[in-house]
Amino acid sequence: MFTNGKPWLDTDGNPIHAHGGHMLRHGGYWYWYGEDRRENYYVSCYRSRDLSSWESRGIVLSTDSETAPIRVRTDLSLKNETPFEFPKDRPIPEFLKKAKNKVNLERPKVLYNEKTGKFVMWIHYENGRDYHCAAAAIATSDTPDGKFTYHGSFNPFGYMSRDCTLFKDADGTAYFLSASRDNADMHVYRLTEDYLNVDALVHKLWQGEYREAPAVMRREDGKYFVFSSYCTGWAPNQGKYAVSDGMESRFSMLSDFGDETTYRSQPAFILPLDTETGKQYIYVGDRWGGRDYMSSSYIFLRIRFDDRGMPFIEWNENFELDDKKGLREI
Ligand code: GAL
Repeated sequence: MFTNGKPWLDTDGNPIHAHGGHMLRHGGYWYWYGEDRRENYYVSCYRSRDLSSWESRGIVLSTDSETAPIRVRTDLSLKNETPFEFPKDRPIPEFLKKAKNKVNLERPKVLYNEKTGKFVMWIHYENGRDYHCAAAAIATSDTPDGKFTYHGSFNPFGYMSRDCTLFKDADGTAYFLSASRDNADMHVYRLTEDYLNVDALVHKLWQGEYREAPAVMRREDGKYFVFSSYCTGWAPNQGKYAVSDGMESRFSMLSDFGDETTYRSQPAFILPLDTETGKQYIYVGDRWGGRDYMSSSYIFLRIRFDDRGMPFIEWNENFELDDKKGLREI
């Protein structure tokens, strides 16, 4: 049994650090990727056959990862060249002291590219001193839980790119969504076939609405939903969603989702499940610890649909999660 907002332990008994994360199913396993701000780590990977017990597969991206440029002009630095000087008059959280020479890599998302056989990660990059780079970074690996090679950060078509997500459509076309224009607009980019670059900017959604933490799902009836939060840093706020008939079709305006703090969470990703009793979609959110970042936890809630086919979530504390049975509220 799991309790929303309580630490989730891996099979070694350690808290799972997969914040702002993403899940991918491959070869009989689920892989859970996410931010890990311990030591010199950036991204951790866990795997599970049943979505319930998670084995740590180690750190797939760190300050020591191999780097290799690809065709876009990228900044390959994985370390902060000008270490941040902490203000003397404020207590510094322990984990941040160790992060002195790190850049900021947030919200890692990974897709498998059928054509190239590569696992491709997109992630939000900042230099570790401020939030002005607003860039996207890419890393790849031949295996889902191998050491990823870092291909550097860049601004897609020169645009700012902060909170982000990836979405693979039914035909294999992939999209990268990221908050642009200082978070005012949500951009949707179609990716190139190899998922290593942006191919076209297909939308500038909800201009001036300041949406971030995007998460996408496609329902079996062909409706697409993008969930997001407003921009209040680590503090949670009212979640909203919009609906469309396709990633390149028109999107609706925003409607509320969850309560005024989205049950004290911010969207990380949507987990689609094929269970014995049909499709389930699970909202996975981060309950951030803020200054106590290491205590950040996860919120898993069933997404249900009303008679208009629109999604909603309700609070539920305890649940079981299983690949075949889905999420069962207790
Ligand atoms: C949030 C964002 C998080 C993290 C945080 C830092 O707005 O969604 O991913 O960047 O700000 O304050």
